[in-house]
Amino acid sequence: MKDKLKIIIGKQALKKGVKELAHKISNDYKDKDPVLVGILKGSFIFMADLVRELQIPHKVDFISVASYGSGKCASGVVRWLKDLSINIEDKHVIIVEDIIDSGLTLNYIRNNLLTRNPKSLKIVTLLNKRRRRKIKIPLRYVGFFIANRFVVGYGLDYNEKYRNLPYIAQLKE
Ligand code: PRP
Repeated sequence: MKDKLKIIIGKQALKKGVKELAHKISNDYKDKDPVLVGILKGSFIFMADLVRELQIPHKVDFISVASYGSGKCASGVVRWLKDLSINIEDKHVIIVEDIIDSGLTLNYIRNNLLTRNPKSLKIVTLLNKRRRRKIKIPLRYVGFFIANRFVVGYGLDYNEKYRNLPYIAQLKE
């Protein structure tokens, strides 16, 4: 059966939202040379657009994890696929996520990064599905709050499809 897509955050709104986040980060991290850590794969497009709007020196690195879960739900059990290549000890670190749902994946990653003694560790997420949260996570920067709908596009996938869409859309099977 063909998937039905309904746009919920359009291209222009995304552009504006990402620009605002970059502006806030640029103000808060002047002279701090932060390390932006993207969580693959979903964050790759958000990261690419975010750093192009940043107006401060910074570094970029990525982590890749696979969260075990059934279908559309994470379980919090995370398999580490790719680690950082930058040593973050004593560095200002910003985790860059595309979406936070249950929060279990990010909680695991955050706790792991904290053991490496960064000078500070904050989180920026493009999308926050707040009502699905299973664990409390401190979020410093949020692009958009979204309702409990399954969304794709702008890096987010369904079975590896739709990551290339230039907008965020709700997927209706
Ligand atoms: C998504 C997203 C987060 C996680 C959020 O990744 O990028 O990492 O799920 O879910 P949670 O808050 O319930 O833990 P996904 O597992 O779909 O992998 P991908 O980024 O490689 O597509």
